[in-house]
Amino acid sequence: MSAIIIDGAAMARQVLDEQKIRAAQLAQQGRVPGLAVVLVGDDPASAVYVRSKTRACREAGVQSFDTRLPAATAEAELLQRIDALNADPRVHGILVQLPLPPHINAVTVLQRIAAAKDVDGFTWRSLGALLDGHAGLAPCTPSGSMLMLERAGVPIAGRHAVVIGRSSIVGKPAALMLLERNATVTICHSRTVDLPAVTRQADILVCAIGKPRMVTADMVKPGAAVIDVGINRLPDGKLCGDVDFEPVRARAGWITPVPGGVGPMTIAMLIANVITATERAPLC
Ligand code: GUN
Repeated sequence: MSAIIIDGAAMARQVLDEQKIRAAQLAQQGRVPGLAVVLVGDDPASAVYVRSKTRACREAGVQSFDTRLPAATAEAELLQRIDALNADPRVHGILVQLPLPPHINAVTVLQRIAAAKDVDGFTWRSLGALLDGHAGLAPCTPSGSMLMLERAGVPIAGRHAVVIGRSSIVGKPAALMLLERNATVTICHSRTVDLPAVTRQADILVCAIGKPRMVTADMVKPGAAVIDVGINRLPDGKLCGDVDFEPVRARAGWITPVPGGVGPMTIAMLIANVITATERAPLC
């Protein structure tokens, strides 16, 4: 068997085209969607991510407002900037790029973002809505992963989904979204005993570990859908996922590649969240 490759780049283009239509409808009513991206410091990987997000905004007809601050910026200054963006009616979504410099408390900063503008879905209000099964502004990586499963026609209801990773940004929300779609869900993590024995039971395997090629073919049930959330840089500079792609591809039913899988979908879902936030924003 050779798995169907779920082409995240192509699917993301399709999602962005759909957002372009929604954005144009809003613009006709004089409501141009706006995303504020805040980047603190000069982490090169973050700069690359921010450029991709700004480009996606342009393509979809979303106005972007960039705030670049030096690495030494005080937390209080950053909080003031967020307050100003919370109050700015042109801004419908706010994204503070992570990681933040170590002297800044990321939790304090992220929780300062107004829930209505929380397009990353990281505030406790957004995560609480997700926990309680309400459609809010959901975290983009897991929602992109779900859309990939849905559009690829992977059956979810009643299937066993195993998520490796328990972060608040990916693992836990992915598990909640799978549960909402009636999967039976197991969350694995660094203390899980006999991980391969658990992952081999998975009809859907979501890998959000951050370790290059850790998920090997012997850990995968034949015919499973494998979603690779990892983006790891190898010593030679190339990108790879958490999944050992070629051998796993030979065994799985569906697989997402890295690059060109979950990454572009994450950005497309961010833009979708910005447009949803604009649609919900009170008219002023
Ligand atoms: N850094 C890496 N991924 C993300 C993300 O999805 N959102 C934010 N804000 N920062 C990130």
